[in-house]
Formats: sequence, structure tokens, C-alpha cells
Amino acid sequence: MTEKREDQLPFHLRGNYAPVTEEVTVFDLAVEGALPPALRGVYMRNGPNPQSGYSEHWFVGDGMLHGVRLADGKAQWYRNRYVRTRTFVEGVSFVDANGNIDHSAGVGNTNIIHHAGKLYALVESSFPVEVTRALDTVGVCDFGGKLTTSFTAHPKPCPRTGELHFFGYRFVAPFLTYHVLDAAGALVKSEVIEVPGPTMIHDFAITEHHVIFMDLPVVFDLELAMQGRFPYQWSDSYGARLGVMPRGGSNADVRWREIEPCYVFHPLNAYEAGSKLIMDVARYPELWRSGSDGLPAAMLHRWTIDLAADRVGEEQLDDRAIEFPRADERLSGRRNRYGYAAGAVFEGADDRQADCALVKYDLHTGAATEHRFGRGRTPSEGVFVPASTSAGEDEGWLLQYVYDAARGATDLVVLDASNVTRPPVAVVKLPTRVPFGFHGNWIPDPA
Ligand SMILES: [Fe+2]
Repeated sequence: MTEKREDQLPFHLRGNYAPVTEEVTVFDLAVEGALPPALRGVYMRNGPNPQSGYSEHWFVGDGMLHGVRLADGKAQWYRNRYVRTRTFVEGVSFVDANGNIDHSAGVGNTNIIHHAGKLYALVESSFPVEVTRALDTVGVCDFGGKLTTSFTAHPKPCPRTGELHFFGYRFVAPFLTYHVLDAAGALVKSEVIEVPGPTMIHDFAITEHHVIFMDLPVVFDLELAMQGRFPYQWSDSYGARLGVMPRGGSNADVRWREIEPCYVFHPLNAYEAGSKLIMDVARYPELWRSGSDGLPAAMLHRWTIDLAADRVGEEQLDDRAIEFPRADERLSGRRNRYGYAAGAVFEGADDRQADCALVKYDLHTGAATEHRFGRGRTPSEGVFVPASTSAGEDEGWLLQYVYDAARGATDLVVLDASNVTRPPVAVVKLPTRVPFGFHGNWIPDPA
């Protein structure tokens, strides 16, 4: 490839979207403020970092994990490591030139989760890739050969049963399959869910008694795929619908209800209120009508699925542009009061001029408060970490990487979740930058 000037590159290869070239390990990081001693574990975040330095689309670069280990009030180390998938090591794609899918390949670039004592790097096209707490790759996992589809990057833990609910989708039939891992990590359920076509299904939701699928009009396009381009785009004809299935039910039990066309990558949470299901989401009015390079603004909306009246209401809750909405994961599928989201960072924005916030929503009162990181300091997803296993909702910290354009490096910023407007509790100064990426989680030390 001819070397391009930076301003000729697509947004995902410029500024702090650009990949880093080194894997590093640095011990005893500088900390401003006081790290809470109760934080004992590793904060990890995943994101694309193409090893060749180039990728066709932001979503398809090789995964790289960035982790900071905290314990005893110290930031003991920072590591970044590629997820060493078959695609990274052997150069094979999860789909070959004939359209055959191999879920054991893929980039592993979207999320990092833990379940039943294991850590998995996830991308929605592929099987999970097991990694260690030191960010080293163990290998691809198909749960003893039982998993035959991909594994979403957004599985949902159930706090009541300890299960992990997830799905896989793909562009050939069957398009969508729902699965459950039990609390011990065994794959105990797989159920094909019929949908009309091959849509991009990034996430879903559970409640105490239901599973909610989103079938939204960003549809696989074979022609784009044949051209080697990102193969999903908006469809005016596909329509949009939410499918509600009782937990423990089957495809025959799924009730689909039409909604206004839109796209949602990420729900904040969902829960039950009598005969209604409440689902708060970061909603795009449309996505990728022509090309898939950009992301418009998503705003917090609420869907109310009235099971008795058989209809879905939609309400805009806020007019800020946000992404990466999160709640206290102990309330996954349960009624939550608080939500946290990153003020959106738009592609092409000048990193030095960015002025983005962590937005905290009080969904009971409708109030929103912000932590502003300051000009030139750009946050990523905020992850809530409870202060203890018995701590109440919102009693804990929000961890996020914040890129500091002036320093050309990234900080791990720890906020008091109960009062985000205050200065950070602690700021860990990383020696390098963490490119803008996707999702992270707190991996606490084993009890
Ligand atoms: Fe996501």
C-alpha cells in the first residue's frame, strides 16, 4: 500500500483511533489521588488494533486487550496484548472466498468478559477466545464442540441463576440462535430463533422471565461482501421488530412486535414492571444508509413492551449524544435506577478539541449529571465496579480509559459513581496510549 497522509486515512486509522505497534508491560504506574484498596483485580478493555496497521473498517481490526492491575491501593502493571486468534496467527478469515464460515477464526476485538472462572475475548462473528488474567491467549473455545454458531460480544449474566445468556447470528440461515451457559460454564441450551433475514444483531436483553431480541434494519448485503467491503447497510424495506421469548421457551413462543425503524447497538438494561418490559437503549434513528464509515448520534430512549396490550411504546429520555451505556451488572435484567454512558466521540473530531463527558442517568428522577474530563481528554466506556459484594446500586466506582491528547497517552480514571461531578478519586497514568476501542470489564480477583 502506498503510504497515505494521515488526513487521507479513514477516521479509524487516524489520531487515537490508529493502532499501536508495540505490546508492552510496565510495572508500578504513577497514580494521582488515592486508589481504593478494595479495587483488587484487573480492568481490561478490548478494541481493534490491526497488526498490519491497516483495516478496511473500524470493526474488523485484530483485537488487542489493554489491562491495568489494581491491588492494595497501587496500580501494579499495565499490559497490552493482541488476542492471538487463528486470524491473527494464521491470517485466515472467519469467512472464506466461497462464503463458508469458520467460527474458530475471527478477530476477537469487541469485549472481554468473565464467566465461571474463565475470561473470554469476544467478537460477534466467532467463537470466544479464552485469555488469562495476564492477557495471554489460551485458545478458541467451542464448549466441548457444543457451540456451532458465533457468540455475541454482549452476553447477559443472570444474577439469580448465575447463567450466561447469549446468541449467535450470521448471514446464512439459520440467522439467529439463542444459547445459555449454566453457572458452571457448560453450554446447556441452543435454540434457533427464526427471523426474516440476515440483520446485524449486536446485542440483546434479558429480564427475570424473558429474553428480548432486536431484529433491526441493518441488513447483510452480498454485493458489498463480494467487493470486500463491510457487508451491512440500512434497509428501508426490512422493518424493525422486537421479539420477546419467555426464558425457558422456544422459537415457537417468541412474540414479535413491530417498532419504528432505527438501530441499536447497545441496551443500557431491561427489566420487568408488572406486565410491561422496560428496555433503555442508545438509539440511532438510522445507520449506514450509504456506506458504513460513520456513526451518527445515538440518544437514550426507552421502549416499553406492554405484554398485555401487545404493543411497544417508545420515548426519548435525553438529547445528549451517547454510546456505551452501562448499568450495575448485578442488576442485569432487574430494575435499575442508574445508568452510565460515554458522551459520544465523533469520528474525525480533533482529539485536542474534544470535550466529552461521562453521563450518569438517574432513571427514577430523569436527572442526568456529567463528569467532564476536560478539553482534549476523551473517555471511553465507563465500567461500574461495586465497592463490595454487599454494596448498593451506585455504591462504587466508574473505571474508564481517558485519552489525553496533550500527553499523547491514556489515563485510567476512577470516579466515585455516587457523585460523578466530583474530581476523580484516582488517575492512573499509563505510559502509552490506548487506542479508542470498544468494551471493557472489571475482572475481580477470585474470592
Ligand atoms: Fe458493543
